[in-house]
Amino acid sequence: MTERKGIILAGGSGTRLYPITMGVSKQLLPVYDKPMIYYPLSVLMLADIREIAIITTPEDQAQFQRLLGDGSQWGLRFTWIVQPRPEGLAQAYLLAADFLDGASSLMVLGDNIFFGHGLPDLLRRADARGAGGTVFGYRVADPERYGVVDFDTDGAVRGIIEKPAIPPSNYAVTGLYALDGTAPERAAGIRPSARGELEITTLLELYLQDGALTVETMGRGYAWLDTGTHESLLDAGNFVRTLEARQGLQMGSPDEIAFIQGWITRGDLEARAQIFGKNAYGSYLNQLATD
Ligand code: G1P
Repeated sequence: MTERKGIILAGGSGTRLYPITMGVSKQLLPVYDKPMIYYPLSVLMLADIREIAIITTPEDQAQFQRLLGDGSQWGLRFTWIVQPRPEGLAQAYLLAADFLDGASSLMVLGDNIFFGHGLPDLLRRADARGAGGTVFGYRVADPERYGVVDFDTDGAVRGIIEKPAIPPSNYAVTGLYALDGTAPERAAGIRPSARGELEITTLLELYLQDGALTVETMGRGYAWLDTGTHESLLDAGNFVRTLEARQGLQMGSPDEIAFIQGWITRGDLEARAQIFGKNAYGSYLNQLATD
């Protein structure tokens, strides 16, 4: 079997964050001390994924490339794909079909931030499942803003409903999707929804109908943070600041993860640290290289 590949979907116009996102992509905004996209990128890296497609709007691609380069600084390989119009999350699988070339994938939305001690294990378990798909349910206070899991009385998943007016549960489906190699051909069969999008929930329903979808719940020991509104974006930044200040550890550092994974050498890390000079991030990387 070919190795699982990664996709970061960082398209969309971020209208809910206007006027901020009128001049810059949402996924490039700071979440405390790092650009937002560093956090989902870190999740893919923790899942041992090195081959990653980054999907952006045509206008924003150059800025993402300026920030992230070709990935080689972290021992990764980036493929750049454009989503001409925001026509739904499931469209990512059509746009990335050539890149995937039959491989299974782990797709993460560019504005989703995850934190939790058990994350690498959770991701490896999903990877080990092979055929079918795995998504993650997370308890939230405001499920109506998300895709929501509908459980039957035995706790089996009956459906996944996009932004229901009356949510059947408090479990939102997070923006992290481990799907097998059939995702592009399944996505090709989807019709646009009333809002004109190829809905990810429709794709997940197709897996579900075939008995091929696992919904794993992320327990209360995880943080899944939202960045969709001004308030939640600030909250996410404060969360990162609180943890980093308390522990003296960085959250969402591709440099640190690449080094720990053995994808870059100590010398590479030192060179990276140089770029950041004497700021807290640079000092942190320097310390890591000399420990
Ligand atoms: C999208 C998906 C939704 C999912 C959410 C996670 O919503 O459509 O199912 O729960 O991402 O972030 P959107 O952010 O496009 O409103």
